[in-house]
Amino acid sequence: MTRPYIAIRSGESLHRRTFDVLVLGGGIAGLTAAIGAARRWRVGLLTKSTFDDTTTFLAQGGIAAALGPPDSPGLHFEDTVNAGAGLCDEEAVRVLVNEGPDRVRELMEICPRFDKVDGEIVLGREGAHSVARVVHAGGDATGSEVSSALAEAARVGSRVQLYENEFVIDLLTVDGRCVGALTLNLDDGGLTLNMAMVTILATGGAGQVFGRTTNPLVATGDGVAMAYRAGAAIRDLEFVQFHPTGLAVPGQETVQLITEALRGEGAYLRNAAGERFMTEYDPRGELASRDVVVRAMMTETRREGSEHVFLDATHLDAAWLQERFPRVTAGLARHGLDLATQLIPVAPVCHYFIGGVVTDLWGRTTVPGLYASGEVASTGVHGANRLASNSLLEGLVFSDRVVRDLDRYVGRLGEDVRRLRFDLPEAASAARSSDAAAARRRLTDLMANKVGVVRRGDELSAALADLGALTTELQFGEMGAPEYELLNMLTLGTQIAKCALLRDESRGVHLRDDYPAIDDAQWRRHVTLRLPAHEREEGLLGKVERS
Ligand code: SIN
Repeated sequence: MTRPYIAIRSGESLHRRTFDVLVLGGGIAGLTAAIGAARRWRVGLLTKSTFDDTTTFLAQGGIAAALGPPDSPGLHFEDTVNAGAGLCDEEAVRVLVNEGPDRVRELMEICPRFDKVDGEIVLGREGAHSVARVVHAGGDATGSEVSSALAEAARVGSRVQLYENEFVIDLLTVDGRCVGALTLNLDDGGLTLNMAMVTILATGGAGQVFGRTTNPLVATGDGVAMAYRAGAAIRDLEFVQFHPTGLAVPGQETVQLITEALRGEGAYLRNAAGERFMTEYDPRGELASRDVVVRAMMTETRREGSEHVFLDATHLDAAWLQERFPRVTAGLARHGLDLATQLIPVAPVCHYFIGGVVTDLWGRTTVPGLYASGEVASTGVHGANRLASNSLLEGLVFSDRVVRDLDRYVGRLGEDVRRLRFDLPEAASAARSSDAAAARRRLTDLMANKVGVVRRGDELSAALADLGALTTELQFGEMGAPEYELLNMLTLGTQIAKCALLRDESRGVHLRDDYPAIDDAQWRRHVTLRLPAHEREEGLLGKVERS
C-alpha cells in the first residue's frame, strides 16, 4: 500500500470547520478536555461513533484516588510504581496521585451517582492496591455513569460543538505543526477539514488489533497510528495489558469483562481441578498485580492443558452480588451463567494499551500543536504494567493539565489556520479492491496467535513477515472507514510486533517464553519510535497553500 493513501474522489467537495481547539475522542479524556477548554475557547469535539460507544463507557471497576486516611497520595504512588515493574515515570506518577483526588471530587460534582453508604463514598479494592481506594458508580457501571454525565455536561452545560459518527482520517500538519484533522462523516460520507490552533488527541486504545478484547469495535488504534504518521514519538507499544478475567466463552466480538473488583470483594480463582492456586504464586493471592495473575493463570492452564481457569464467587451473597455487580450479572445471564451458583470460565483478554503517543507532564506531544490524553497517550504513569483503575484517573488528571496549558498556549500561536488551503490529490482507480474485513480477520488472528499474551522470538519474526506480506498485498480503490481502520491496525500491529521482538526480556505485561527473566541492565528503558522524516511526506494531504 503506497502513500499518500488519502485522496479525494473526483468531483467531491470538502467541508470546512474552524475551531480554536479540536478534541478527537468522546471518552473521559476527550470530554474532560473539551468541557474545560470550552470555558475559554471555541471547541469542537469529534467522536468516531457515539458517546455510549467508547471504552470509557464499558469501564466497570472505577477510578482510583487517595481520598483520605488511611490512604494517601504517597501510598498510591508506591502501589503504582511497584506495579509498573521499573518503568514508571515517577514525576508523572506524582502528578497523577497528587492531583487525582481533586479531579475525582470535581467529577463527583458533574456525576453525583458515585456509590455511597450513609452519605460516605464507598471505596472498592482491586489488585495490587494496598488499601481500598476505587470509587465506583452504579456498582460496576462506573463507565456508563461517568460517560453519560460528562456527555450531558458537554451537551447542555458547555459551549462545546459536538459531532458524532465523525471518523478521523488523518491529522493535518503544516511545517511540522498540527493544524487540525481531516474527517469522514459516517452517515453521509462527507469529508471535512477541521482546522484548529490546537488539537487534542483522546482517541483511546487499540484492543481490536487482537480481535478478542474487552474494548469496543471502535478501538482500532487510530490515534497512535495517525500521530505516528504526523511525526510524533510513540513508545512502549509492546506493553499490551491482558486483563486476567475475560469471560472465556467462544464467539464473542467484544469480550465480557469480569471486573477485578469481584476479586477485591473476595472472589477466588480456581484451576480445572477446582483448586485455588494464586497464593502459590504471590502472597497477595487473587489480589496480586495483573501481570502476576496472568502469568500464574498461564502456568496453570499450560500444566493442565486447559483453555481457562474459573472465577468462583459462589460463597458470596447472591442478592448482594446482583446489587454490587449488575452489569457483570446481566452479561453472564446472557450466556446462561450465574455468578452466585456457578464457576465462571475466565481467561486473559486484551484490555489496555499501555504504550502510546509520548507526552510530557502537560500532555504535549512532540508535534507542536498536538496534545494527547487518556489511553492514546504515553505519560509514563503505567510503566510496564498498569495498576487497576488508574486509567480513568489518568484521563481526568492529564486532560485537566492540557486545558491549563492551553490557557498559556492557544493565543500565542502565530499561524492563522483559517487561511490554510489543502489540495487533496484525486484517488487513483485501482484494478481491484482488497476485502478489508477479510484482511482485518487475518491481522487479528495473527496478532492473537503470534503476538499475544505469551510471546516467542520465532513467532514474532513470523508475525512480522506475515504483516509485511499483508501490507504489500493490499490494494484499495475507494477508501472508507474499514480501509482506513485496517491501515491503522496494520501500522500498530507491525510496531507492536517489532517492539516485542526487540525487548528480549520479560517485564510487566510483556512475557517472552524464550527470555523469561527481567533484564534491568539492558532493558530498564523505553522503546521509542518515530517515523523517519523522509517517510513522513509533509503534505500527505496534498499541497498546502497559504492565502
Ligand atoms: C476492571 O474493572 O477490572 C477493570 C479496571 C481497569 O482496567 O482499570
